[in-house]
Amino acid sequence: MSASLPLHSPQCVVGVIGGGQLGRMIALAARRMGIRTVIWTGGLEAPAVECADEVIDLPFDDPIALDDFCRRTTVATVEFENIPCETLEKVAKCTGLHPSPYAICITQNREREKNFLRDNNIPCTWYAVIANAADLAAAMKELNGPGVLKTADFGYDGKGQVKLEGGEDPKKIWADFGSPRAVLEAWVPFEKELSVIAARGADGVTVTYDPAENRHRHRILDVSIIPARVSPAVALEAAAIARRVAEALDYRGIMGVEFFLKSDGSLLVNEIAPRPHNSGHHTLDACVTSQFSQQLRAVIGLPLGSTRLHTPAVMLNLLGDMWPDETTPPDWLPLFEDGNASLHLYGKRHARGRRKMGHANFLGTTVEDALARAEAMKAKWLEH
Ligand SMILES: Nc1ncnc2c1ncn2[C@@H]1O[C@H](COP(=O)(O)OP(=O)(O)O)[C@@H](O)[C@H]1O
Ligand SMILES: [Mg+2]
Repeated sequence: MSASLPLHSPQCVVGVIGGGQLGRMIALAARRMGIRTVIWTGGLEAPAVECADEVIDLPFDDPIALDDFCRRTTVATVEFENIPCETLEKVAKCTGLHPSPYAICITQNREREKNFLRDNNIPCTWYAVIANAADLAAAMKELNGPGVLKTADFGYDGKGQVKLEGGEDPKKIWADFGSPRAVLEAWVPFEKELSVIAARGADGVTVTYDPAENRHRHRILDVSIIPARVSPAVALEAAAIARRVAEALDYRGIMGVEFFLKSDGSLLVNEIAPRPHNSGHHTLDACVTSQFSQQLRAVIGLPLGSTRLHTPAVMLNLLGDMWPDETTPPDWLPLFEDGNASLHLYGKRHARGRRKMGHANFLGTTVEDALARAEAMKAKWLEH
């Protein structure tokens, strides 16, 4: 597409690599802003397809798909980090990609991500890189306590992780693990998990949203509570660290930074997501600018919008185990009766145990009020 086309012109077409629910919500935000989208699904089942203007339904290493994607788009972004770095480099050259291949390739791999944090003096948990059983044996000896072994590539929603108490046989653990590279992390006895959604614009200005307090169920995000119930000093520190991460990556776009908050008030970065983040879904209903429209602003090169939270909120993830059976959704009527809650479904036809089917945002006069209503609704939906 013509390089001279002003990016904010009505003919602007944003390419999104990945077709999951994050791509769907980017496409919906784009529709609202009069921006066209091309979704490159990677050939997978893709909730974004029905919301996009155009779709390329081919694998991420397909050269015809790459040419087609570049020809049809003005600028591109990702909604999913596990895209081959080679593809990202090519997209960056042919049409422009934000965040950069550098930022995505670091954050898509736990080994590179941890090394990046350490090299930039950003606090994170103790870790060791593991490539074989002998590495694991040495690292477990040094750690001398509980830890978690995580695959370097392709981990998400707790997949590719094994919790270790410390006394296990490293040979057996490694033989069963089945990943060529991994990191062993010290287990963090955290008080809370937090996250900060940050966006850095084309001009290098970084903005942050109020930190979220995150609770997990089966290692998958269950609820996010916003603003997090932490001291102002902790909230400021989390925002400052997220800003440092964005600057050190020379980032452009939206990102999620996950933290562990320890009981002494210190923060450790757990991981970085180079895309909209599940703990930022409340921004659709509770903030001036949603993380998805913010992403479009950053990628296109428009000024960023206000991150102000206008209402305390709780986001409840709707996982497949809330569905009475694969094709029957929960009874949504109580949510609609609530009046201050909103339902966001991703259009997935088949529910499976831990699949993310959608989320619900509960707005409240206080987070306690929103949390009580979200918890009651969740209990009802898990009853079946
Ligand atoms: N080192 C750790 N110490 C304590 N809990 C951990 C640790 N690593 C992961 N967890 C728990 O598992 C969850 C998922 O792990 P994470 O590394 O964030 O992977 P994912 O990519 O699946 O989100 C975390 O949010 C946290 O609850
Ligand atoms: Mg995580």
